[in-house]
Amino acid sequence: MNKATPVWGLMAALPEELGDLVHRLQAPTTHRIAGRDFIQGQLQGQTVHAVTARIGKVAAALTATTLIERFGVNHLVFVGVAGGLGQQVRRGDVVVAHELVQHDLSAWPLFPRGEIPLLGKTRLSCDPTLTQALQIAAQEALVGEQRLHSGLIASGDQFIQGHDMAQRIRDHYPDVLAVEMEGAAVAQVCEECGVPFAVLRTISDVADDGAAHDFVAFMRDTAAPLASRVLARLFAG
Ligand code: ADE
Repeated sequence: MNKATPVWGLMAALPEELGDLVHRLQAPTTHRIAGRDFIQGQLQGQTVHAVTARIGKVAAALTATTLIERFGVNHLVFVGVAGGLGQQVRRGDVVVAHELVQHDLSAWPLFPRGEIPLLGKTRLSCDPTLTQALQIAAQEALVGEQRLHSGLIASGDQFIQGHDMAQRIRDHYPDVLAVEMEGAAVAQVCEECGVPFAVLRTISDVADDGAAHDFVAFMRDTAAPLASRVLARLFAG
């Protein structure tokens, strides 16, 4: 992890995915940039900037870049929901990313499929120290049948539902655990800007035909409370 005084960025795609974090910030101030509310405050004595990015890789990249360039964020954590693709990954489980890929990126035949052109990488690694801290916080925050997994998350500008869409991603990335629409974009911004980052996702569906069913209720009843518990523990430690 970066040794500078931490200035935290906490991102989610949708407001519910940040849990109660925004309400727990002390002395909050809001800056509206590019249609997003960047809320700065103090949490357990640390400076935090919380923001909802909206859905998709472009929205996520714009928001992450703004956090870093305008607000000096030097540690970035993304939380939210994802579709489970790993065999052992069930609805309600939690996945902490060790690596991320953009499953919909291909500049073939100019570059190998999946490789980020001119960066020369397909998989982007999360910061090990921040990821370990997030994993410990997540482990303590699990309830009931929830289980914690860690490994590869794939991101792309598609909501994945149905066997064929899901299988196409598994075929290219057999070790993939989960799919979502922002993480790898934030990973690329952080990699290129030299900012440590970590990603946590609660599994809202298993990317099958019923993936969108109960989505909003799941975010409210399961993902939001989990995010609240994880972030409280991350900052307590
Ligand atoms: N986020 C939650 N579920 C998802 C899915 N099935 N595909 C893409 N993003 C998701």
